[in-house]
Amino acid sequence: MSNLETKFTPYLRSMFNVHMAGQFLRYQVRALSRYELHSPFLFDLEEKVLHDKRHFYAFDEIEYRRELLLAEDQTISVSDFGAGSHVHKSPERRVSDIAKTSLITPHFGQMLYRLVQYLQPVTLLEMGTSLGISSLYMAKAVPGAQLITLEGSSAIAQIARKQHIALDAKNITIMEGEFNATLPSALNALKKIDLAFIDGNHRFEPTVAYFESIYPYLHEHSILVFDDIHWSTGMDKAWNVIKSDARVTCSIDLFYKGIIAFRPEFRQPQHVVLRY
Ligand SMILES: C[S@@+](CC[C@H](N)C(=O)[O-])C[C@H]1O[C@@H](n2cnc3c(N)ncnc32)[C@H](O)[C@@H]1O
Repeated sequence: MSNLETKFTPYLRSMFNVHMAGQFLRYQVRALSRYELHSPFLFDLEEKVLHDKRHFYAFDEIEYRRELLLAEDQTISVSDFGAGSHVHKSPERRVSDIAKTSLITPHFGQMLYRLVQYLQPVTLLEMGTSLGISSLYMAKAVPGAQLITLEGSSAIAQIARKQHIALDAKNITIMEGEFNATLPSALNALKKIDLAFIDGNHRFEPTVAYFESIYPYLHEHSILVFDDIHWSTGMDKAWNVIKSDARVTCSIDLFYKGIIAFRPEFRQPQHVVLRY
């Protein structure tokens, strides 16, 4: 697949909607180039994370697991958690369909890997395991770190666990159950969060509520990554509320993902839109 295909195909196939199309045009107009970045943190992030072209062996291993999932004919019964997908309406789902439409793309999975490798977090939280692809990207980048990932559907979590075992990713723990039930236990187990990826229940109130629940466990070098920040009006609103929060010092809008930082070096909050 070409770079463009790995970036967009799953979205074009299933998730790109009228709301996103309008927001995407706005994003293209507002996106800065790397030469317009003055902060060392943002410049480094651009150079070492967004535009780093290195290929790691883990990418092939993880993408092979995705290939197997894409070819998996098995049907599972999935409880409907969160905002759901624009395409899946029935509880019976083919694993291959979930793999096609719900997982991080290779383009962003590999960006997440580089981000994690660059930041070297010791404790990671993921909300929304699905079939385990993004958790593998993060866990493989820092094998000595601890990653707790939360998934509501047992049938999905079981398949994710198989992917983690197949790649010997012993640093991942899946907690099954509704986020409201598992998030407090995960926070309690991790004690502090260096990096969190919020990729489930893409709705306004829950997303802001997750930010508030996680916040007491963060420190000034913690990073939050939110998925699909322009997926709906609700997610746009959540992204705006979170990035404008007085405790946030920097936000990076990559359109499909949003990164939030709390670093003290920003005297004025920096809100940048970067093309990725
Ligand atoms: C978009 S998928 C995650 C994809 C995964 N991060 C990846 O890229 O490989 C979101 C997952 O979150 C789960 N989820 C959504 N809302 C939830 C909730 N309120 N409680 C528990 N799980 C939830 C769904 O079952 C789904 O598997």
